[in-house]
Amino acid sequence: MGDNNLHGTIPLDFGVNLPNINWFSLYRNHLEGPIPYSLCNASRIEHLALDGNRFRGSVPMNLEKLQALQRFNLQDNQLGGEKDDMNFITSLTNCSNLYFLSLAINRFSGVLPSSIANLSSQLTHLHLGYNQISGTIPSGIENLANLKYFVMGENHFTGSIPIHLGKLQKLEVVALFDNTLSGRIPESIGNLTRLYRLNLGGNDLQGSIPWSLGNCQRLGGLFLSKNNFNGTIPKQVLYIPPLRMLFVGMNSLSGPFPLVVDGLKNLEILDVSNNKFSGEIPSTLGTCTHLEFLYMKVNSFQGNIPSSLSSLKGLKELDLSHNNLSGQIPIYLEEFLFLQYLNLSFNDLEGAVPEHRIFQNASALSIQGNRKLCGGITKLGLPPCSKLAPKKHKKALPLIGIVISGVIAVLSLFLLSYFFAHYWLKKSSKKSPIISSMGERFLEVTYAEILKATDGFSSANLIGVGSFGFVYKGILDQIGLTAAIKVLKLQQHRAPKSFVAECKALRSIRHRNVVKILSVCSSIDFTGNDFKALVFEYMPNGSLDTWLHPNEEKHNSTCLNFIQRLNVAIDVASALDYLHHDCEASVVHCDLKPSNVLLDEDMVAHVGDFGLARIFSKDVGNCYQTESSSIGIKGSIGYVAPEYGMGGEVSSYGDVYSYGILLLEMFMGKRPTDDIFKDNLNLHQLAKMAFPERVIEIIDQRLLLEGNVNISSNEDYNEMRSRMHECLLSLVRIGISCSVEAQKERSEMREVMLQLQGVRDFYLGVNKYKAKEKKAPLSLEGPSYISNY
Ligand SMILES: *[C@@H]1O[C@H](CO)[C@@H](O)[C@H](O)[C@H]1NC(C)=O
Ligand SMILES: *[C@@H]1O[C@H](CO)[C@@H](O)[C@H](O)[C@H]1NC(C)=O
Ligand SMILES: *[C@@H]1O[C@H](CO)[C@@H](O)[C@H](O)[C@H]1NC(C)=O
Ligand SMILES: *[C@@H]1O[C@H](CO)[C@@H](O)[C@H](O)[C@H]1NC(C)=O
Ligand SMILES: *[C@@H]1O[C@H](CO)[C@@H](O)[C@H](O)[C@H]1NC(C)=O
Ligand SMILES: *[C@@H]1O[C@H](CO)[C@@H](O)[C@H](O)[C@H]1NC(C)=O
Ligand SMILES: *[C@@H]1O[C@H](CO)[C@@H](O)[C@H](O)[C@H]1NC(C)=O
Ligand SMILES: *[C@@H]1O[C@H](CO)[C@@H](O)[C@H](O)[C@H]1NC(C)=O
Repeated sequence: MGDNNLHGTIPLDFGVNLPNINWFSLYRNHLEGPIPYSLCNASRIEHLALDGNRFRGSVPMNLEKLQALQRFNLQDNQLGGEKDDMNFITSLTNCSNLYFLSLAINRFSGVLPSSIANLSSQLTHLHLGYNQISGTIPSGIENLANLKYFVMGENHFTGSIPIHLGKLQKLEVVALFDNTLSGRIPESIGNLTRLYRLNLGGNDLQGSIPWSLGNCQRLGGLFLSKNNFNGTIPKQVLYIPPLRMLFVGMNSLSGPFPLVVDGLKNLEILDVSNNKFSGEIPSTLGTCTHLEFLYMKVNSFQGNIPSSLSSLKGLKELDLSHNNLSGQIPIYLEEFLFLQYLNLSFNDLEGAVPEHRIFQNASALSIQGNRKLCGGITKLGLPPCSKLAPKKHKKALPLIGIVISGVIAVLSLFLLSYFFAHYWLKKSSKKSPIISSMGERFLEVTYAEILKATDGFSSANLIGVGSFGFVYKGILDQIGLTAAIKVLKLQQHRAPKSFVAECKALRSIRHRNVVKILSVCSSIDFTGNDFKALVFEYMPNGSLDTWLHPNEEKHNSTCLNFIQRLNVAIDVASALDYLHHDCEASVVHCDLKPSNVLLDEDMVAHVGDFGLARIFSKDVGNCYQTESSSIGIKGSIGYVAPEYGMGGEVSSYGDVYSYGILLLEMFMGKRPTDDIFKDNLNLHQLAKMAFPERVIEIIDQRLLLEGNVNISSNEDYNEMRSRMHECLLSLVRIGISCSVEAQKERSEMREVMLQLQGVRDFYLGVNKYKAKEKKAPLSLEGPSYISNY
């Protein structure tokens, strides 16, 4: 009954009346009152989701009979607030199947009982964030050997980080931010090689940042701001290629900033502000070409702003204020198209202030406290540069520049009048709030333009029928590109919600394996009805579905070969990995299937159709839903995870299931909806029964016929074949393990992606000798050589 508008309380005798219930899902309603004591009589309960309500009071302390309990979610309620309000945890220690426990976002205020260490060793998710829990983190926590998510941020924990935290080798997310933890970061943190997010910001931690953190080579986000760390940042920590966010601001770090070339080539945000760094800004920073936000304020950096920073063309915000920088303001900053904030104040900069782009906007620019600057736009109120002062900028604008600015001036006048007229005409029709809430990121197109582009929605241009609308191909004059235009069927009552869901999901997404949205249209058609459309980049090679199951009528008889399929599988996995873990908010796609995987001209796969997507806030792991498209259906038959059918909550593991099915379909060549699958037989079962000895019999036979013209000798050919067979085994194994029925046994997409990359490296011989050395029998449970990567 989750995700509805129910109110009132849970009947006090519910557990007595429903002694056999095993799923009880009431998340996100308006329920209140206590959690009834009779819960303990529902002794077969496995999944209990009470999150997102207004339950209050204490949690019953007699839960030891709930032997079957696996997932217990109380987050986002008003529970707790009394003395010893977490003692019920002791009664959960008998629940040997518990793998998920969340108490986040409540009013728990007591001390965490040390019995937390005696919870099931199956526990993978422990969310206690956003409460007022005090006391120390029990050191016994290191018993929870399978823990992946350890989230305790925004509480009142004191004492130190458990010294043996490094024993929890499966940890992926550690979030202890905004507590009062003191002491040092334990060296053993470097043992957490699967860690991809570490957030210790806002504590009283001290000492140096351990170099062993450099062993965490999967880290994507490292947050150490607002502590008392001193010393410098170890070189090892500045060599973590996947790192995208590094926050060490508001500490006492000192010395030069030792950046390694290419060590952080994916870095997007770097915040080292409010420390005691000295020396020059390292010129190697220029190799972090993905940087968008660079904050170095309030330090003692000196010397010039290096010329190598001219390669940071994607910068949106740059703050170098309160340092000791000298020399001129680099002219290349004028060329940064995305720069919206530039603060160079309180330095020792000199010479002329440039005048274009960012330098024209006095509210986005700060240069005060540099006594030797001159020129710039008049609003800055600086003295004019004397004739003797260097005038580089004027020289940089020769005749051609003047001509261009003339053209731009005329064009902007023209555009201005166009928008004026446009606005005038549109003013009467009410503007959809969706568009304004999407910010200025998307260009808006009109109904008339779409009508023209699709040739009046002619069937010749129809390229697909999606869940909530038709997709047309067309050339939009405004963009000047061929685009795929998805027109929503608004008669279908869920379609408007799907439009909003898709807009929201795509607003913040940017990845090479996700289809790019170019534009949106929300207006009325010529008959006065609402009209909504989304404009995407066009994918000339259509969907994966048509490649896997070529239609005899169409002459498209070429099928994808092994390596093409493998590449597509990796593309889709990296898109999902990005969506789940690396977006601003975690996005669950909810409708992954081959017809939603599109191929561009280079056969690179792009995941599309976000009409059912759900967006989750990041702060408390991957389970807290802040947004919802409230769409009942969660996917397509054959691909939808079994727990959704039973009222389970949407989670990234649902996508992992769909991915497993997709992977099996790609290499077995059979749809999950094929006629042979009835009764209890499905794609997963079929694969599992054949694994490992008879896998070759269930593989898409077209793959086995594949010849490779590039291979000259027979020996190479045989070698390639046997390597392919081995890879197929691994792929089927991965497909099986992703699509297991039990949600908790599925891996994260990140793990899956790394395994697939391992398979590809092996196939292409990148790690030839390594693979041979480690060749071990493949089995379903045991680790295979592949998972060593
Ligand atoms: C419910 O559980 C309580 C505590 O274990 C027990 O005393 C009571 O007899 C149970 N009630 C029923 C109807 O089973
Ligand atoms: C704890 O679990 C065991 C079985 O694993 C059971 O026999 C025992 O009664 C349970 N303890 C309590 C207090 O319910
Ligand atoms: C945890 O379990 C162990 C062994 O079962 C027991 O000795 C210990 O007292 C328990 N600790 C707590 C805090 O319940
Ligand atoms: C964990 O880290 C510590 C300190 O860095 C080290 O001594 C220990 O051997 C590591 N343990 C494992 C299992 O890697
Ligand atoms: C860092 O701070 C600690 C005390 O908090 C001090 O003992 C140590 O010498 C400092 N290290 C450096 C490099 O300043
Ligand atoms: C600023 O840099 C200059 C040299 O460029 C140096 O002489 C001066 O001492 C520095 N000031 C501070 C406060 O570090
Ligand atoms: C620029 O930085 C200075 C000092 O850090 C700060 O006082 C000022 O408000 C900043 N300017 C803007 C526009 O934010
Ligand atoms: C100037 O900068 C402010 C703040 O970044 C921004 O809101 C405004 O749109 C900018 N104006 C122009 C004309 O770019």
